Amino acid sequence: MAKKNDDFFVEKKPWSKVKDELLGCYLKPYVAKIIHTRKPLAYVDCFAGKGKFDDGNPGSPLIALDIFQQGLASTKLEGNAQIGAAFIDLNYASELEKNLSDYKGIKIVSGKYEDTIENLLKTRTGCNVFLYIDPYGIKNLDCTRFDQFANGQFNTIELLINMNSFGFIREACNAMGTKFKIDDGSFFDDLIEYDPTVLDSTDKSIEALNRIAGGEYWKNIITRYKNGEIDGYKAEEYFSQQYCQRLSESYKYVLNMPIRIQQNRHPKYRMIHATNHPSGCVLMADNICNRWELLKNIQNRGQLTLFQEDFNNQIVDEDRITDYVIEHFSQCNRWVSLTVSQAVFFVRYGAICKSGDIAKVLKKLEKDRRIEVIRNPSQTAKGKPSTFMTEGHGKTVSVKWVK
Ligand SMILES: C[S@@+](CC[C@H](N)C(=O)[O-])C[C@H]1O[C@@H](n2cnc3c(N)ncnc32)[C@H](O)[C@@H]1O
Repeated sequence: MAKKNDDFFVEKKPWSKVKDELLGCYLKPYVAKIIHTRKPLAYVDCFAGKGKFDDGNPGSPLIALDIFQQGLASTKLEGNAQIGAAFIDLNYASELEKNLSDYKGIKIVSGKYEDTIENLLKTRTGCNVFLYIDPYGIKNLDCTRFDQFANGQFNTIELLINMNSFGFIREACNAMGTKFKIDDGSFFDDLIEYDPTVLDSTDKSIEALNRIAGGEYWKNIITRYKNGEIDGYKAEEYFSQQYCQRLSESYKYVLNMPIRIQQNRHPKYRMIHATNHPSGCVLMADNICNRWELLKNIQNRGQLTLFQEDFNNQIVDEDRITDYVIEHFSQCNRWVSLTVSQAVFFVRYGAICKSGDIAKVLKKLEKDRRIEVIRNPSQTAKGKPSTFMTEGHGKTVSVKWVK
């Protein structure tokens, strides 16, 4: 392994913290929800690392295991809640054994994700499966393998992928005989440990990029970049958009969160969440908004900003959210579940606001008789009409646009 990768675990860097926050804060409500399906959860950290950074900070395995322990301790479904966690790493299985020794019943796999994942998942049919995919580079992100995971053998399946999209563009440029240049000369410096994939201009490289992207659409983006029609940042943006579209052939709800290290700077990479379950998508969109607020605080060094901004540093004011909600929900001319329509909203516009912000606008639209709402239960315990605008815990909401 290249020397530069050895440095990854010396000290936990800010972008690793943001990424782990995103994972940890999602897993908490996810576990609470998934336990109630009464089907086991099979969690796999596919590129687990050492478990702990050398500076004492927890890595993704410890973060997940602590959340599972808390989730199991607080559930009322004693004995019926089952969580099986597995950790794969090519280089650090012995460190994982040591750093995770306090946790019982976990599986540590020494080897390559691409060689071991199928076998590991063979016995998980009917489970709720969550895969955390955080490799150094891009070469292990085989899109057709992600398609296979979604072919119905599990009760639910979710992926959280760290996609080094700039790394992809750079290698795609190499493979198509052009050099990737961006105005920020030090752009890749702080991602050095994350970026060991190097491809050259051979047919094998082109094949590898097709496998990662799940098609050939990336070639057109690189050609446009080569011809000077778009710059490197636009190339990354188009690639990320089309990659999410490609994933959505197998996963109905795909969200992407650009990770920026400094405010108003370009993203360094993307975290991508893919699921076939609308409530998972809504949970992740809310989580992205919360994480974004935290990231913004890191970027602003705690200073408050006057306006709400989304993860693209765009000001999102109430009027804009209202416009989008009206644009989206005015197309619901049949009864549709609130959660499904919110998930489709987030896929369409991105995680620009929390589900609670959408609900607020919907309540106003209901009051103005622009939408119809069916709630179950329709009445409160005291016999008054229900007014809730969230689903779950035995409550359902359906909405329809009034023509
Ligand atoms: C970015 S690090 C993971 C960091 C970890 N998620 C954390 O937060 O602590 C990537 C890990 O993938 C491991 N690795 C590299 N190639 C691999 C492969 N083909 N299969 C499984 N693990 C691999 C490396 O040893 C490294 O520990």
